[in-house]
Amino acid sequence: MTIRTIIRMGHPSLRTSASQFPEKDINTPRFRTLIQDMRDTLHAAGGIGLAAPQINEMVQVAIIEIDEGPSRYGDLGAVEFSVFVNPRVTVLKSETKGYWEGCLSVPGLRGFVNRPQAIQVDYLDAEGCAQQRRFSGFAATVVQHEFDHLIGKLYIDHIEDPALLSFEAEFEQFHLSAQD
Ligand code: NI
Repeated sequence: MTIRTIIRMGHPSLRTSASQFPEKDINTPRFRTLIQDMRDTLHAAGGIGLAAPQINEMVQVAIIEIDEGPSRYGDLGAVEFSVFVNPRVTVLKSETKGYWEGCLSVPGLRGFVNRPQAIQVDYLDAEGCAQQRRFSGFAATVVQHEFDHLIGKLYIDHIEDPALLSFEAEFEQFHLSAQD
């Protein structure tokens, strides 16, 4: 079990595009160690998704794992542990919906971000098999947030109204009950 350091906003790696992960290296010991480290680190931090650049590994690999029941983002639909290698997103419907996002690399803050709510993702799974999956609602937001990390973007880049960027305590005091 290895919990890696999550780098924080200001670290240049979070503003750098990651390289494609070599397909031939999927399922090698190096790859399996990376995935296990990411999962251990995600669990230790109590998050729901993590991208490799957040532990300063500059490859296009992201994981998402949302358990049933309450989390720091409220009561969410579950997403089983999923590994995405070299993902590509296609927006299926342009209508957007906003959620209060947070990020392990931007600790202590929440920001309201609108994103498309119906997407298709083409990617390689942990066995190197090509997969195509559709996501809607909050899961679509989480997927887009994680994949942004692979191209050097953070959720704060998408905040349209700077008044809707908040510390967590103030978010809970003033904004949480106003959510739909
Ligand atoms: Ni993040």
